[in-house]
Amino acid sequence: TPHATLVFSRHGESQWNVDNRFTGWVDVDLSEKGLGEAKSAGELLKADGITVEVAFTSFLKRAIKTCNIALESADQLHVPVTKTWRLNERHYGGLQGLDKKETVKKHGAEQVLVWRRSFDTPPPPIDDDSEYHPKREAKYAKLTPAELPTTESLKDTIARVMPFWEEAIVPELKAGKTVFVAAHGNSIRAILKFMEGISDDDITGLEVPTGTPLVYQLDAHLKPLPCEVAVAPLKFGRYLGDAEKIKAAAEAVKNQTKVG
Ligand code: 3PG
Repeated sequence: TPHATLVFSRHGESQWNVDNRFTGWVDVDLSEKGLGEAKSAGELLKADGITVEVAFTSFLKRAIKTCNIALESADQLHVPVTKTWRLNERHYGGLQGLDKKETVKKHGAEQVLVWRRSFDTPPPPIDDDSEYHPKREAKYAKLTPAELPTTESLKDTIARVMPFWEEAIVPELKAGKTVFVAAHGNSIRAILKFMEGISDDDITGLEVPTGTPLVYQLDAHLKPLPCEVAVAPLKFGRYLGDAEKIKAAAEAVKNQTKVG
């Protein structure tokens, strides 16, 4: 029998997912569809008999609302929730706010794919006077200059997510709890890379669908238990919900930069 359970959900569709703009740390709200996805994530948790004991989310409202709405529709709003900037989306640097397809037309598909999916090449940094610079937001005032990102690669994102994983999430799992993490495509990728033992090259091909719970059963050493219904490249995680819909959602993320 499993010792602990870990459930991830990427936030539901955001307004800038609809507008197809690079988002990163910009605090964009959920779309109508995103609200619905968050609700159905909670319904799926409930239908699967998952009782969350502690939850974690980012400092961005699209994930925070997904967390709250999912817990509400699972009838588990009493669950304590910890929020941290360390679970934020990857900082998208100077690309934040730009239209994804326009950016492809300007810089080429190859360059944009490097910026979106290479492991360690960050996009160009955000302008110091950009309205989206995180130094303008009071909620990030406690971050040291070294912690406050101006752009991030997935590698950089992993480096700031994993200390929080170790300090805050691991102890709850060691205690045998059922943990819910409502976060973002790239902060979830960071933890999945570690959990699934995915290589630097292969992690870039892993697309995380919006608003779809992904469940891990862990042993007492926090090793994930193999799962027969895991979908490659995952070996241990199990998505809740309709398989076809999940595939289509992951495909849609890839197609955000398809031009013509
Ligand atoms: C964003 O920040 O724009 C998205 O949340 C993730 O975008 P990506 O799929 O281009 O990495």
